[in-house]
Amino acid sequence: MITETTTQGMYEKLSAMLSTTVPDFELRIKAELAVEINRIKAEKNAVILGHNYMEPALFYSIPDYVGDSLELSRKAAQSNKDIIVFCGVKFMAETAKILNPTKKVLVPSEKAGCSLAASITAGDVRELKAKFPGVPVVTYINTYADVKAESDICCTSGNAVEVVKSFNTDKVIFIPDEYLAGNVARETGKHIIYPTRDPKHHFPNDLDYQMIGWPGRCEVHEKFTVEDITNVRKQFPDVVILAHPECSPEVVEASDFSGSTTAMIKFVEKSNAPHYLMLTECSMGDNVAAAHPEKEMLRLCSIRCPHMNQITLEDTLEALKKEQFEIHIDEDIRRRAYIAVERMLHIG
Ligand code: 13P
Ligand code: SF4
Repeated sequence: MITETTTQGMYEKLSAMLSTTVPDFELRIKAELAVEINRIKAEKNAVILGHNYMEPALFYSIPDYVGDSLELSRKAAQSNKDIIVFCGVKFMAETAKILNPTKKVLVPSEKAGCSLAASITAGDVRELKAKFPGVPVVTYINTYADVKAESDICCTSGNAVEVVKSFNTDKVIFIPDEYLAGNVARETGKHIIYPTRDPKHHFPNDLDYQMIGWPGRCEVHEKFTVEDITNVRKQFPDVVILAHPECSPEVVEASDFSGSTTAMIKFVEKSNAPHYLMLTECSMGDNVAAAHPEKEMLRLCSIRCPHMNQITLEDTLEALKKEQFEIHIDEDIRRRAYIAVERMLHIG
């Protein structure tokens, strides 16, 4: 976070990092908004958590902590501030509320959803459990609280492999990301079965499966293809390609590294390649490029997450001023979801 308290100071610091990515007139407006947000944040004893996908001017000016879903869950759990403003999508703000229920948790836009979270309901999970009694349910953090509440444990892209390995059972239900499940299956050596594209019907009972999946996908990461990789490698044979595990197993297989958003950032920071390409939401590429002007970042980027994109400095200022949009979770659901999230935090 930039701690400048004057608009001019904030503008100069943002401009030093972002003048090649953000137009100057925008930076001046954003600097003013950021200073005002930081002033009200201190006045109201609030903390701002910012996901790695936030747009660059927001990412570098107002969050007290930035990171991937796992890191931000931990920060939310530990916060002793009165208000937690989550600059990310709704399921992330819900996770903060699950972990720290006495705090007021705000998400700056009501439109900040997620295609994975929308792909499955608590009723779907109950049906899966009825069809596969006793099989543990591992649920990706990109889900809503009522789905987490039906689960044995949660995972993020940063710990999915360890979480699945932590079960000694020969079968695991892994929901709702079909591609993440495929990538975890590859790393753990497990065989994955998607019962049917219409999972409410026709579950075969006699299959030799080890992981049972669900046909949810991230609408951003599903767009990257092996052909994209082939084309980039033709032009830049020395490029290092990093793929988020929400990309298809074929894309991950054709890449050089796969990991959570923070794992990808750390990989770029620690290595020294002539070119990098990150197959993920494109603001993150801008953020890494701004922090590391010496690194050559290639962009395939027309792919912004339409949900993360909803979170702006303007909306964050309104959120703090009006204390909107507050996350409310039914206490029974929250308590059950807490068990699944807390188990995950114990594992890693
Ligand atoms: P990370 O947990 O890797 O930050 O991913 C969250 C997400 O929504 C990726 O699309
Ligand atoms: Fe959801 Fe994909 Fe957006 Fe992440 S990038 S919040 S998984 S839609």
